Amino acid sequence: MELTQVCAAGVEGVDGYPVTVEVSRATPGRGVGRTTMVGLPDVAVRESIDRVTTALFAGGFSHSPSDHLVVNLAPADRRKEGPAFDLAIALGLLATVPENGVRLPASCLFAAELALDGSLRPVRGVLAMAQAAREAGCTRIMVAPEDADEAALMEDIIVHAPENLRQAVLWLQNGLAKAPRVARRDLDEGAPADHLDLSDVRGQDQAKRALTIAAAGGHNLLFIGPPGSGKTMLARRLPGILPPLSHEQALEVTRIHSVAGLHDGRRGLHRQRPFRAPHHSVSAVGLVGGGSTPRPGEVSLAHHGVIFLDELPEFPRRVLEHLRQPLEDGQLTISRAAGRLRFPSRCMLVAAMNPCPCGYLGHPVRACVDSADAIHRYRAHISGPLLDRIDCHLEVPAQPPEQVHAARPGPSSEEVRAQVRAARQGMLDRQGCANGDLVGRALQRHASPDQAGRELLHQAINELGLSHRAHDRILRVSRTIADLERSPSISIDHVSEAIGYRLLDRSSL
Ligand SMILES: Nc1ncnc2c1ncn2[C@@H]1O[C@H](COP(=O)(O)OP(=O)(O)OP(=O)(O)O)[C@@H](O)[C@H]1O
Ligand SMILES: [Mg+2]
Repeated sequence: MELTQVCAAGVEGVDGYPVTVEVSRATPGRGVGRTTMVGLPDVAVRESIDRVTTALFAGGFSHSPSDHLVVNLAPADRRKEGPAFDLAIALGLLATVPENGVRLPASCLFAAELALDGSLRPVRGVLAMAQAAREAGCTRIMVAPEDADEAALMEDIIVHAPENLRQAVLWLQNGLAKAPRVARRDLDEGAPADHLDLSDVRGQDQAKRALTIAAAGGHNLLFIGPPGSGKTMLARRLPGILPPLSHEQALEVTRIHSVAGLHDGRRGLHRQRPFRAPHHSVSAVGLVGGGSTPRPGEVSLAHHGVIFLDELPEFPRRVLEHLRQPLEDGQLTISRAAGRLRFPSRCMLVAAMNPCPCGYLGHPVRACVDSADAIHRYRAHISGPLLDRIDCHLEVPAQPPEQVHAARPGPSSEEVRAQVRAARQGMLDRQGCANGDLVGRALQRHASPDQAGRELLHQAINELGLSHRAHDRILRVSRTIADLERSPSISIDHVSEAIGYRLLDRSSL
């Protein structure tokens, strides 16, 4: 009996983990052979045997149909899913026949699907797998050509990307040290195609100011206003003013999008902060992730970026409630029999809504036609705890047309981005994170207002009946307002402006 072992990788949550593919071949001498696959494979993995044997045949490799094959994917207690084990299984099968001369180095991990003609196909989560390879002590990874640039983002790993199984076998027969390797390319994603400029929005200076503060500190934001006042327009201009991603953050974002099958491996690193705008028909699993084969949801796809919920009350309340934990903790954890899955979700929540179902409550000219009851039901879609997690809620009022035309365009996205970037850098230099992520002792240490500021805050907390969470959020926003002015201390003016962004706490509008 011949036995071989090949390194491969699975993905759980957004993390890769090493899998050893063991193949044993026994020749019973007579009868028809059978293939058994063990180690918690899903349907796609079980179907792998058919793809692999056809690909072997297409590659001109001999196959003994009377042999008994056992393919084991270890560790056996974790579910294996998807077609990414194809290449490792095919090479394992070939290596059990010594005449094939296939040497499988333990230092190389194999991750690709096989097409029936033997060519290598891309798979989800290659960056996570390359990371798993490095953590498992591998120095090489073999992937499909479409995945080569993505795998090469991982430092200290040599990437090989053969076109097909024949070429892979040839390279292994001659030794991988001599095989072609993929050079890392510093791909530039360029500016987003739909670059929208903040100067397109006329007037609405207070909303623009809040957008700037939220972008600088990474705070959550809710715009409330009548139809056509510019809420959606403003929110869509947020990506253009956000500070750049660090290299580590860009790697994390790329990894998550790749696991979700949304990253084109040839695009290199995901350098733009994500901006996700799910429709209100999104399911709870679609929004926060999970499911029977857990995948990242919209909040994870928005990690280090923005999740924008336009028309917030249109989202079912029970779906919105799922946002509470990931918004608070910056990650969603799902417990499984074989451990916990982690889905990072450190993102800004930006939302927009009308003040009432007809949209015109508080409008200077048009009358609202809704009953108090209808307004109440509309608002009830957004629970208190969810609202409590939103740092700034403010009105985006209707502007008369003559006012819109007379208004100056205001600063461009580029000018605002420079301001935001400087403020964010100051935060990182001081405390290593954005103000929106300040917690516990670090929050106390870096975001304590002066005496007058403290008194004003206490007064507001008492008068408005605000929670401790709201208190902390006001402090964080005050810190960002001070940072935008490069002020080391937080004054009463900074605190007062931050309290001003608590519209729904201050009025019944
Ligand atoms: N301040 C503004 N400056 C320039 N154009 C504006 C402004 N506000 C609104 N508009 C114009 O009105 C259109 C509608 O704006 P937008 O979609 O942002 O409204 P909204 O507040 O999201 O409304 P709704 O509540 O109906 O979703 C924009 O596409 C734009 O053409
Ligand atoms: Mg809108």
